[in-house]
Amino acid sequence: METTFAMIKPNAVKAGLIGRVIERYEGARLAVRGLKITEMSQSDVEGFYAEHVEKPFFPELAEFMTSGPTVLLALGGEDAIAVVRALNGATNPANAEPGTIRHTFAATMTENVVHASDSLESAAREIAFWFKPEELVQYPAPDFRK
Ligand code: CMP
Repeated sequence: METTFAMIKPNAVKAGLIGRVIERYEGARLAVRGLKITEMSQSDVEGFYAEHVEKPFFPELAEFMTSGPTVLLALGGEDAIAVVRALNGATNPANAEPGTIRHTFAATMTENVVHASDSLESAAREIAFWFKPEELVQYPAPDFRK
């Protein structure tokens, strides 16, 4: 079992897509272990996206990520990191496979609807950035076949 971190970004929250995105994660037998909604500050964005602060796209990313509420999720399940990345699709929606969240709902690289951790190390760092250990629950993944 793994736990990964995912975010539903401000454009998706504004579009009323929180439920539809979480439905896809739960439908893939992932358990919501942590859940918050927050309005990120500039320093939140600089801390969370520390590896991107010097990149040319960072100012646009920061403006977008501070433009409205973001949903923060800790998702647990078998191969959770790979499963969430596959459900999300490629970072650039233009390259996302049909049926993925970004192919379905996203239009641009910056406003790409969702984020997910890309490794065990980033999942641990990103979960710890937003959640205290006691804010995460432990329960089995949903099983609709029961
Ligand atoms: P995310 O997976 O949240 O990680 C970094 C974010 O920066 C990315 O999704 C995009 O929203 C945004 N971004 C904008 N331009 C780029 C780019 N050229 N390369 C990577 N990420 C970008």
